[in-house]
Amino acid sequence: MFKNRPISLLLIIALLLTLASPAMTNPNGMPLQSLRAFDQKILARVSAERAMKYVEYLSKEIGTRPAGLPNEHRAAAYIANYFEGLGYSVELHEFAVTGSNANVNVGYITFGDGTLWETGAAAGGFTVSGRVISAGNGLLEDYPAGLEPGFIALVRRGQPFANIVANAKQRGAVGVIIYNTQFGARGNYPSAFNPSVTTDIPVLGAAYIHGTRLLEQIAAGEVFVNLRTVRYTNRRSYNVIATKPATNGDPNAPIVAVTGHYDSVVGSPGANDNGSGTALVMELAAILKDLNTDKEIRFIAFGAEEIGLVGSNRYVQRLTPQEKERFIAVFNADMIATNHPNVTHLVAATPNGVQHIVTDSAKAAGARLGDSSLMPTTFGSSDHVPFHNAGIPAALFIWLGGGLVPSNYEIEMYYHTPQDTIEENMCLSRFQTALNIIGAAVFDVVRKQVPSLERSKIRMPVNDVIESTEYLEYAN
Ligand code: BES
Ligand code: ZN
Repeated sequence: MFKNRPISLLLIIALLLTLASPAMTNPNGMPLQSLRAFDQKILARVSAERAMKYVEYLSKEIGTRPAGLPNEHRAAAYIANYFEGLGYSVELHEFAVTGSNANVNVGYITFGDGTLWETGAAAGGFTVSGRVISAGNGLLEDYPAGLEPGFIALVRRGQPFANIVANAKQRGAVGVIIYNTQFGARGNYPSAFNPSVTTDIPVLGAAYIHGTRLLEQIAAGEVFVNLRTVRYTNRRSYNVIATKPATNGDPNAPIVAVTGHYDSVVGSPGANDNGSGTALVMELAAILKDLNTDKEIRFIAFGAEEIGLVGSNRYVQRLTPQEKERFIAVFNADMIATNHPNVTHLVAATPNGVQHIVTDSAKAAGARLGDSSLMPTTFGSSDHVPFHNAGIPAALFIWLGGGLVPSNYEIEMYYHTPQDTIEENMCLSRFQTALNIIGAAVFDVVRKQVPSLERSKIRMPVNDVIESTEYLEYAN
């Protein structure tokens, strides 16, 4: 202890000097050091490495988590247990998926060593095993001569599905894997898909990378697999909600939500989309638990986002008018840790580009932390939308590139594919940046207001507009 004393004295002197320095006050006279003291409560605790463990559990231990399927329910239980372990009171808000999304067809490809790939499928529930044969585009002439019937045809997407299946059967196939070649609407690699065709054999819609890997394996030797298609009906899903009442016990305190969806699309382990955002919700729940906060905080992991924001829509529908009145801010994290080299900014996006308490507090937090990567911008497509539509300030946090021009947004290539894994699609330091900025912003909004620090809520001067062509070079 004695040994430390000279260091402590030095620190105190340095701190006093810092506080006295006019350069360390913001334009409103608020000592920056005091703002940072609150931020420090978050920064000292929040850990991307720990959060990555949650992503690991979700994306590896559980794996793909399509809405309403057993893995999604496993993920809900995992998150609920975690919240409970922290001492929160936890609500599982169950809902039915209705309409055309109530049912879904999923395919499974199993290899001899137990490796399992998930794909989309045409309707039906069939199981077959056989050797995989590469059959090009699936035209009759694409099949090698002299095939023994009973094989599985691997066909690249392009020809009408009905033709592909009829030709495969004519040549003696007992199952068909059609692999995707059509890039996603956002320029991402092709995902798993559902071939719309009536069939009495399994017809799977595999992601591009699955087709590529199968072709590689076939080139190296004989490949035998088991194919299974399953039709899941009347899907049900859950929102998982942990609530931290206001420290002052006010049952009518304003509500701030920290949210992220935990489901994935079929075929994708959803490490970045959205193990990352789910892990942020989990990590901030652990860190904010012991801090004084004069707002009620709801930590919400939404189910069934990928099939139409179903969980968040149901959640907002269920709010009473009084609750809606109390909601002041929603921080929605979705894809906050990609390693894609062409993304440039962590953004706080609102569906119509309007800025409010969520974008402002994030921008100010970024500025306080000396990080100018946080930018407000325009984007929907995630669970902030139903809140926004209900008049509640809500923003999506995501890393984007492409000059942040909405028509030119650049996202990771592995979005919605089997390659959305920790190894192939995530970046620890971007994860930490997102946790720091969003964590500091949330705490700034929810923390107990100390009267003398009231002004800390002012906006820091940050450029609102960025040149639209500034980052376009990355688009090529
Ligand atoms: N995380 C994505 C949304 C996203 C992707 C935002 C790329 C910004 C850039 C989300 O999980 C998703 O894919 N949403 C669906 C929403 C739809 C089902 C309403 C989408 O955008 O296709
Ligand atoms: Zn998402």
